Amino acid sequence: MTASLPRIFSGVQPTGNLHLGNYLGALRNWVKLQHDHECLFCVVDMHAITVRQEPAELHRATLEVAAAMVACGIDAEKHIVFNQSAVPGHAQLAWIFNCVARIGWLNRMTQFKEKAGKDRENASVGLYAYPNLMAADVLLYKATRVPVGEDQKQHLELANDIAQKFNHDFGRSVFPMIEPLILGPAARVMSLRDGTKKMSKSDASDQSRINLTDDADAIALKVRRAKTDPEPLPSEEAGLDGRPEARNLVGIYAALTDMHHAAVLAEHGGKPFSAFKAALTDLLVASLSPIAAEMRRLVGDPGAVEAILRRGAERARALAAPVLAEVEETVGFVRV
Ligand code: TYM
Repeated sequence: MTASLPRIFSGVQPTGNLHLGNYLGALRNWVKLQHDHECLFCVVDMHAITVRQEPAELHRATLEVAAAMVACGIDAEKHIVFNQSAVPGHAQLAWIFNCVARIGWLNRMTQFKEKAGKDRENASVGLYAYPNLMAADVLLYKATRVPVGEDQKQHLELANDIAQKFNHDFGRSVFPMIEPLILGPAARVMSLRDGTKKMSKSDASDQSRINLTDDADAIALKVRRAKTDPEPLPSEEAGLDGRPEARNLVGIYAALTDMHHAAVLAEHGGKPFSAFKAALTDLLVASLSPIAAEMRRLVGDPGAVEAILRRGAERARALAAPVLAEVEETVGFVRV
């Protein structure tokens, strides 16, 4: 890795199935960015346990997400692919950040409100402090760029508040500011069943999302059943206003082809949804099936995936060590 390139950190939780939203909002952009950045890509298993996980399933999903990163095209020789719990510095820095972040800041986090639901008293303390761990993930490496989907924006703004307060409280500019990279026309892919809800691993309906491991038949069926409205596709972008499902499908098409919404509509506007859906299905199958095949191959060789994670964790620990030392010294911890 070349030290002078800007450093990227990003992560995915090993919970449930990776889906098209994770791919278009995050993984696909990581693959593009890896050519001119020094990257750390993390399977955030410690974030996953903020809600109850079956241990065997967490273990399986951690290896699968690492396999997915490589299958999507991340170069794990050049860049660092690792699981969060293998680098203790994440937990160490998160504790310090628990003491920097204010309760009022965390109270404003919309993801906590959504995930905790009505039964807030019963949510884990970890779920509440989740954004502090996320800030630690990035700042442990002084990474300055974080490619994510739109839903993570608020967490990254909080990370900057923490970095700023730390620097201010201790009178030293230890941490850089983070720039969220929210890229492309699919930074917020919506559910196929409801264009006002984000596509999510935790949605009870599998019909709401396209999983990276879905085969061609499953993809075709889900796209055919995807909610739409009775009007044909508009020829201009303004025609998508008030039509969230149509906008979502056009956005997915635009992201997969690297086209603008307007160009997609110029090509497909006026056609009925059935024709557009057929074209979208072909595109999805062509994009996702090589990834699914490579994921299957890698998952079948867990020793190889573990070797990637082991090497990644060693390299991540080496990058984290001087930052952690600087932070501990700044805070006044005796380092013996
Ligand atoms: P997670 O595991 O929920 O999602 C992984 C990535 O996928 C993006 N994403 C989406 N993008 C577009 N449309 C969607 N429907 C969609 N759903 C998910 C997410 O924005 C994310 O980029 N807290 C993070 C993981 C994390 C992290 C970090 C990220 C932990 N530490 C440090 C960046 C930096 C999360 O739960 O992502």
